[in-house]
Order: sequence, then C-alpha cells, then structure tokens
Amino acid sequence: TASKPLPSDPAKALAALRGATDRCRECPIGEHATQSVFGEGPVKARLMVVGEQPGDKEDLQGHPFVGPAGHLFDKAIEDLSWDRSQIYVTNAVKHFKYELRGQRRIHKTPTQREAAACLHWLESEIEQVQPQALIALGSTATRSLIGHAVPVLKARGTWLTGQHTLPVLVTVHPSALLRGDPALRDEAYRQWLEDLSQAARYMA
Ligand code: URA
Repeated sequence: TASKPLPSDPAKALAALRGATDRCRECPIGEHATQSVFGEGPVKARLMVVGEQPGDKEDLQGHPFVGPAGHLFDKAIEDLSWDRSQIYVTNAVKHFKYELRGQRRIHKTPTQREAAACLHWLESEIEQVQPQALIALGSTATRSLIGHAVPVLKARGTWLTGQHTLPVLVTVHPSALLRGDPALRDEAYRQWLEDLSQAARYMA
C-alpha cells in the first residue's frame, strides 16, 4: 500500500508506483519473483493494454510482454499497423507466479485473491495514465477491469464498461493462441486481429 502521497507529476507518480510494486508483499507471489514488472508506455497513452501477469522472460528482464506472448502481441501490432510505443502495456498482476519443475519455472495462473490484491496497482496506473480505452487480454485482465467474471470467449470482440465507465475491449490472451491447436492457429490469429482492430480508433 502506498504510504506516502504520490507525486503530482504522472511520470513521477508512475515511477513511485513501480518501486512500490517491486516491494509489494500483499500477496505471496512477490516473494518468489525476481522483480515486479510494471506497465510501460507513454504517460498519456490513449490506449492501455492489460495482460495477466509477467511470464518467465518478463520476470527476468523486468519489462511486460517481451517473451513468446509478447512476440505474438508485437506481430499483431505490426499487422494492424499500430505503434507499440503509443500504447501503455501492463498486467493485472505485477509479479510472476510459477511452479518449479526441475529447472523450469512453469507459469501458474494467479488466484482471484491474488489478482484482487494487485488490483489497486492497476487502478493507480489507470488513474495516472487516464487512457480513453483499455484492451483486456484474457480472463484475469477482464475480471480485474470489469469487476466480475466474464466469459471471454463469448464477450471477445465487444466493448464492455469498466470501472470509471471506461470502455474495455475484451479479447483472448496471446498465450491461449500459442497453446491452441496448431491446425487452427492461423484462423485463431486472424480472429484475434479482428477483435483487436475494434480499438483502431484509439491508435490514430
Ligand atoms: N503474459 C502476460 O499476460 N503478460 C506479460 O507481460 C507476458 C506474458
């Protein structure tokens, strides 16, 4: 919890929040992670994209969406002729939750409690960045942004109303595409692009 008041300058406030998430032990995940992974992007981005939690690569590098899911996200951004440097990219949960299998750290989905404990950090980011719209990637991000569970496969490609009445475009998480049936991958990717393209007006 932020004990000191945040600086009034949004860039400085985001920097303070970044440091505070790194120290956060409001749930057990942070103890085992390398570092927190905070959001990145322009302080006044019109569009904010929210994933689930950092993965192995993100945990080691300290940046969001730099691993395999991030590469697919980058490909989509390029195929949509969007510019990632104009988007604020973050996660619903700021630390990497995993299970050790031998030397490998296997992603574990954060519990609802863990996501709920982390929500105030995401809300602070939204407050500082003041995006005009958000994209929720997958069910954890959707739940955090909408406030209750939403069937993502039904709601994908549509806009829901999030807290503070912000429009939230719901779609699947890129990791789901990577895990999906290889025979259906091209079609799944095409559908994902179509979902994302609903937010094109916030990119221009
Ligand atoms: N998956 C996410 O949800 N977020 C990341 O930053 C990386 C992978």
